[in-house]
Amino acid sequence: MRELLITLPDDFHVHLRQGPALAAYSRRSAEHFGRVLVMPNVVPPLSSARAMDDYRRSAEAHLAASGSGTRMLPTFKLVPGMGAEAVRACALAGAVAGKYYPAGSTTNAADGVPDPDSVQGELAAMEAAGVVLSVHAEDPGAPVLEREEAFLPVLDRIVNSYPGLKVVMEHLSTAAAVDAVRSWPARVGATITAHHLAFTLDDILGERLQPGFFCKPVLKAERDRTALVEAAISGSPKFFFGSDSAPHPPEAKRSGAAGCYSSPVAMPLLAGLFDQAGALGALEAFCAVNGARFYGLAANSGKLRLWEEAWTVPAELDGVEPLAAGRVLAWRAGRVP
Ligand code: DOR
Ligand code: ZN
Repeated sequence: MRELLITLPDDFHVHLRQGPALAAYSRRSAEHFGRVLVMPNVVPPLSSARAMDDYRRSAEAHLAASGSGTRMLPTFKLVPGMGAEAVRACALAGAVAGKYYPAGSTTNAADGVPDPDSVQGELAAMEAAGVVLSVHAEDPGAPVLEREEAFLPVLDRIVNSYPGLKVVMEHLSTAAAVDAVRSWPARVGATITAHHLAFTLDDILGERLQPGFFCKPVLKAERDRTALVEAAISGSPKFFFGSDSAPHPPEAKRSGAAGCYSSPVAMPLLAGLFDQAGALGALEAFCAVNGARFYGLAANSGKLRLWEEAWTVPAELDGVEPLAAGRVLAWRAGRVP
């Protein structure tokens, strides 16, 4: 049996949600990750230092209860009219990133940003305070499979207008986005999810409809997936792991919600993928080194053990269908106590 010991990974993009489910999702993330950058698209949105801080306290309490030592990295949600002062207050309260959702682009984003010009003051305040701009880079007005590519000129404008702003293009899904991220300066990085690395549109639509793989941005073609894998195994410091784990209870999934509950299976999936690519040695950089460096953090001190052992992903975890439910994965993962 092959096994691998790596520095404990970070998840630089996760939805822990709110209410009763927050406890289970936090505990689950703590099983494999030392730090979690938690997305702010709860209701009401985290768009003030007060809201961010209240949410942080409840998430941190659940992480602490897990006994794992996993830390939360808080974010706020950019909304038009938020104001530069509120951005500065969030920065002082410990915000690591501010999230830009184009209005109407995904779950709870109706109140997002219609155009970068509507948040000029806020972006300038983030640039001055050293807060990372995290971007859901899709133009909701474009046809669904073209939304990411259609947003690239908008992101290019943001990157060029704020020369001191650090930017993360989240959950890359296309070869075009990989090329764009490579072409931008070093202060622009990107997260890649396990599901965009492992699956394509055919997993959703190829046979029977599989809503468990439905997320935003939608999974794309094989050539896109291949470009994402090349970026992830390349060792380039621009590319790092963010699960975009986005659990929805069954009734929400039935009514069409986008999001995959990926945090329980992401590390096993990644180990299998990197192994298939002959690049197991590059896994640690992708999920435990590059992102921490980008965010100016030291690597975690803990370790994650990965070992080769076939297992079937259960049909349900924490009341939710996990990503790849029913599929057999070749690797398992567990924190070294
Ligand atoms: O599939 C997604 N689900 N993509 C997002 O950007 C948001 C997320 C959610 O919050 O459900
Ligand atoms: Zn997300």
